[in-house]
Order: sequence, then structure tokens, then C-alpha cells
Amino acid sequence: MPVARTLTGVPGLDEILFGGIPFSNLVVISGDPGSGKTCLCLEYLYMGALKYNEAGVYISLEEPEEEIIKEGENFGWDLKKFIALKKLAIIAVELYDFDKLKNTIEDAVARLGAKRLVIDPGVIFRLYFERELDARKRILSLAKMLKRLGCTAIITNEISLDKTSSLFGLEEYVADGVVLLYHTKLEDRFVRSIGILKMRGTKISEKLHPIEIEKDGIKILAKHELFEEVS
Ligand SMILES: Nc1ncnc2c1ncn2[C@@H]1O[C@H](COP(=O)(O)OP(=O)(O)O)[C@@H](O)[C@H]1O
Ligand SMILES: [Mg+2]
Repeated sequence: MPVARTLTGVPGLDEILFGGIPFSNLVVISGDPGSGKTCLCLEYLYMGALKYNEAGVYISLEEPEEEIIKEGENFGWDLKKFIALKKLAIIAVELYDFDKLKNTIEDAVARLGAKRLVIDPGVIFRLYFERELDARKRILSLAKMLKRLGCTAIITNEISLDKTSSLFGLEEYVADGVVLLYHTKLEDRFVRSIGILKMRGTKISEKLHPIEIEKDGIKILAKHELFEEVS
């Protein structure tokens, strides 16, 4: 039987995932600062509401709701409309209480009947716990809860992808999928690209694909490889 999928609606992304993210996967997006993680996450929720009538919850661990709304407006997305229609909730949470964070997520997902969830930037988890073991336990319990809620979830992870040793941190360790966003220097310019490192339940593109961020959001050039783009 084919697996149920969540179509991201982000141009090119479902193509390189051979039909979208398998439903209820927990996906970590790791990437350089400014590589487009927040943009991609917002577009995932916006497209969910716009094209597929699916509700989404955005948990912001850094920026206030107003800032996130502004980022959407920058790309011409009327997030406020979907908030009013209860197809979107943007919730700024301070991570001083992990149980409270879990309750907030659970309540919001139930209230909207959300099928999509974003936690951005998720890397903050790691800063919060002194002991690695505590952090692992908590992240595992969060991951279990997300599965139970029946959401296809994205957690972002801000790292420098040049240092691959920092990959496979806590978030990746529980993830069903890992997506890498690069914003790297190549000779005399910067190039943006995306690669799927793993995704449980589906075939994936083995290539590194170029990305464009323009006035209407992020776009993945699924038919191209980074190599052709830059040569
Ligand atoms: N209208 C636009 N046209 C082109 N690029 C844009 C536009 N708006 C924002 N950007 C770029 O998109 C990127 C957005 O990055 P962001 O999603 O905030 O990254 P991250 O969350 O990974 O730090 C930034 O590098 C910014 O310069
Ligand atoms: Mg960001």
C-alpha cells in the first residue's frame, strides 16, 4: 500500500521527495544561518492552508508572532487571513518549561485540528539542558508526542554545514527525515542548495539541488543539480 503523504506545496520539494513527506514523519531541517529555514517552514504552513486546506501550527522559540507575520508579508503571504480562519496559529513560546511547551503544542494542534507543525528554531533545545541525557529524554518524549498527535512536523536546526561533525545532534537523532539547506561560498559568490539526507518511507533524490529565494518565496529547482547550475 502506498504511504500517506503530506504535500509540502513548496515548488520542487515534493518532486525531490517523490510525492511529499510521508505522513507524521518528524523532519529536521539543518542549515546555515540565512539559508532559508524559516522561509521554507512558513511556506510549508502557508501552502498547506492555501492549497490543501490543512491547518498548521508554528511554534516560534525566538521571534514574536508579529515578526513571523512580517516575514510572511515580505513574500506576499497573508498569514493573518489564515490565522483568522483558524487554519494557522503562530505561537511564540519561551522554552523555560519543557512540559509547558509540550502542552502548548498539544492544545494548539487539537484546537486547529492541525496536520502540520513547525518548531523554529529547534536548535534551542540543546542549549536548554545541562545534561545530554536529560536533553535526549525530553526530545524523545516530544517526538513521541508529535507522532501521537498525527502531525507532519518540521524542526529547524541552525548549524554551519561546513562543519559536518556538528551534524547528528539531538534533533537528528530522533528524526525520520533530515533535510540540509546550504548557503555556501563557491569561488566568488554564494550559492543556495538543498539536499535530502534521509527520509523514512520514501525514495529521495540523491542530488544536491539549487534553490532560489525570490519575492514569492523559496523554490527548488528539482530538475537541476547544483553542479550544472554553477559550472
Ligand atoms: N524578497 C526576497 N528575495 C530574495 N531573497 C530574500 C527575500 N526575502 C528574504 N530573502 C532572503 O531569504 C533568506 C531567508 O532566510 P531565513 O529563512 O530567515 O533563514 P534561516 O531561518 O535559515 O536563518 C535570507 O537570506 C534573505 O536574504
Ligand atoms: Mg530562521
